[in-house]
Amino acid sequence: MSTPHIEAKVGEIAENVLLPGDPLRAKFVAENFLDNPRQYNGVRGMLGFTGSYRGVAVSVQGSGMGVPSLLIYATELITVFKAKRLMRIGSCGAIQPQVAVSDIVLAMSASTNSGVNRDRFRGADFAACPDFGLFYGAVHYCKSQNIPFHAGNILTEDEFYDDDPDGWKHWAAYGVLALEMESNGLYTIAAKHGVQALSILTVSDSLVAHKELSPKEREQGFGTMMKIALETITAEASA
Ligand code: HPA
Repeated sequence: MSTPHIEAKVGEIAENVLLPGDPLRAKFVAENFLDNPRQYNGVRGMLGFTGSYRGVAVSVQGSGMGVPSLLIYATELITVFKAKRLMRIGSCGAIQPQVAVSDIVLAMSASTNSGVNRDRFRGADFAACPDFGLFYGAVHYCKSQNIPFHAGNILTEDEFYDDDPDGWKHWAAYGVLALEMESNGLYTIAAKHGVQALSILTVSDSLVAHKELSPKEREQGFGTMMKIALETITAEASA
């Protein structure tokens, strides 16, 4: 059985799924980091591949941008294709001076200004957090390899182009590290279905330092993040 957005057969997608926003990044990860990658999805150009890493089956599926798009793919992956571990590998904009372009951020929680959870929880606030095992695994791997990282609260936004260009400063005053557009949705839907989730982010731009990576660097310069993601998700799958 396929779904409206994923044309795979059940069994063609692994229990371990990496979720970049950009479908071309999914292709890049499959071709450069997985053994024997095979494309299972091309619907709407939202490419998905399954291969293996150190003998463990891993899929990589584009999620699109924003919570609503991510929720479509994550829901179908979990409920129909039986994904058990979902890991966002994405980019974020830093809003703290100590968080620099190219740095790694492990999202220990994801605040949001999105209306999705306000609707879901009838105006109350759900504290969206990652699976502890995946988070701990990523921290442990980074420490074992001497990879520097930041761990903390991030903000999942609904709009990339905010009406108020200084709106992020209020979140920064509360210690939020960075902005992106999907993790709150991922953590919430994983919690709903009792599966594991984590967002690992690379800083693509800094709103503090007014710096950014080029599009080419955005697509290809994320090797460290991918190594953390693959080592963590396959270790957790074998645990
Ligand atoms: N805002 C939202 N999402 C992002 C940003 C940003 O500044 N940078 C990378 N993803």
